[in-house]
Amino acid sequence: MEDILFSPQQLGAYRLPHRIIMAPLTRSRSKQPGNIPWEMNVEYYRQRSSAALIITEATNISPQGMGYALTPGIYSPDQINGWKGITRGIHKKGSKVFMQLWHVGRISHSSLQPNGVLPVAPSAIRAEGKVFTNEGLQLFETPRALEIEEMTDIVDQYRQAAVNAKEAGFDGVEIHAANGYLLEQFLKDGTNKRTDNYGGSVENRCRLPLEVVAAVTEVWGSDKVGTRISPSGTFNSMSDSNIEETFTFFVEQLNPFNLAYLHVVESFRGSHTNVALNLKLRKIFNGAYMANGGYNAQTAAKSITNGYSDFVSFGIPFIANPDLPERIKAGAPLSEADPSTYYGGNEKGYIDYPFMSTKE
Ligand code: PHB
Repeated sequence: MEDILFSPQQLGAYRLPHRIIMAPLTRSRSKQPGNIPWEMNVEYYRQRSSAALIITEATNISPQGMGYALTPGIYSPDQINGWKGITRGIHKKGSKVFMQLWHVGRISHSSLQPNGVLPVAPSAIRAEGKVFTNEGLQLFETPRALEIEEMTDIVDQYRQAAVNAKEAGFDGVEIHAANGYLLEQFLKDGTNKRTDNYGGSVENRCRLPLEVVAAVTEVWGSDKVGTRISPSGTFNSMSDSNIEETFTFFVEQLNPFNLAYLHVVESFRGSHTNVALNLKLRKIFNGAYMANGGYNAQTAAKSITNGYSDFVSFGIPFIANPDLPERIKAGAPLSEADPSTYYGGNEKGYIDYPFMSTKE
C-alpha cells in the first residue's frame, strides 16, 4: 500500500530514490559561542541520512536574521566549516541535503540582535506572545520597519548565505518563506502595511520574496532551489485577507524560475488547512510539490497516489525515528518523540533515539 513512497522521482536536478523527505526541524543545539554546527549535529544528520533528501533546520543567514537562541548560522567561516562536516557525513551515506535559508524578521528580540537594536520587519507591528532568548522567554518587541533602501541589503544577505551554503558542500537550498518569518511577513497583508513598492498590492508584497528567489537561483541554478510557503498558516500571529489571491499570484510568479520544488506547510502544529487552495497551487506550480504537516505513511502514500503531491516531508516522525524510511518500508512501529527535548539541551532526545535493528 505504501509502495508508492518508494518509487523514484525527479526533484529539480536530482533523481531521488524515494519520496520520504526529512523536513526542516529547529533543534537549537549549535555550539556556543558563535552558533556553530558541531560534532553532535553531524551525528544527528548522519543518523537520518536514509531520507531521500534532508532539508536542514532553519539556518540564520545573518546576525540580523536570528531570532532564537542556539540556532545555527551560515554567515561566519566557523559556521561554514561546521556545516562541511554535516554535508560530508550525509554524502558519505549517499543522500542529499539542502540548507534552509532563514531570516526571522520581527520574530526576534533586541537581546539577540547585533548591538541590541530592534528586529526588522516590513512594518512596525508586534507579534503576540514570547520569544526564547538567552535570558529566557520575553515578550516580542515592536520591530523597526525596514527603509526601502535596506531591501538590497536583505537580498544581499540571502545571496551571501546561498554562496556560503555552496562552499559548505550543500546540494541546494530552500528559501524559507513560511511560518511567519521575514519573507512571509512581506507576503501577507496582516504584517505588511507598507505604502511603497514593497507593500499594498499583491505584486508589491511579493516583490522582496521574488527578488530573493532571483538572487538565490542566480547563485545555485534554479533546479537546486526550493521555496517553502504556508498559505493557511497563522503561526507567529500571521494573517492575510485573501490567501487565495496572494498565494496564487506568488506561485505563478515563481514559475519562470523553474524551481526544483514548492514545499507547502499544509498544516503546522495541528492548524487548519485549505485543501482546495493546496490543490490549486499544486496545479499551478511547474515543479515538484512537496507536502508537509501531520502526514503518516498511509496519508502520504494516498496523497501521492491521488496526484496531490510528488513528495511528502516528515518532521516530528524523524526526531524519534532516525531510520524512518526503513521503518515505513518494514511496516515497523514508530517511536514517539519527547517534546521536552525538541529544543536545546544535549544528546538526550537528539542522537540517542534507537534504530529499528542494531545494524547501526
Ligand atoms: C520554531 O523554532 O518553532 C520554528 C522554526 C522554524 C519554523 C517553524 C517553527 O519554520
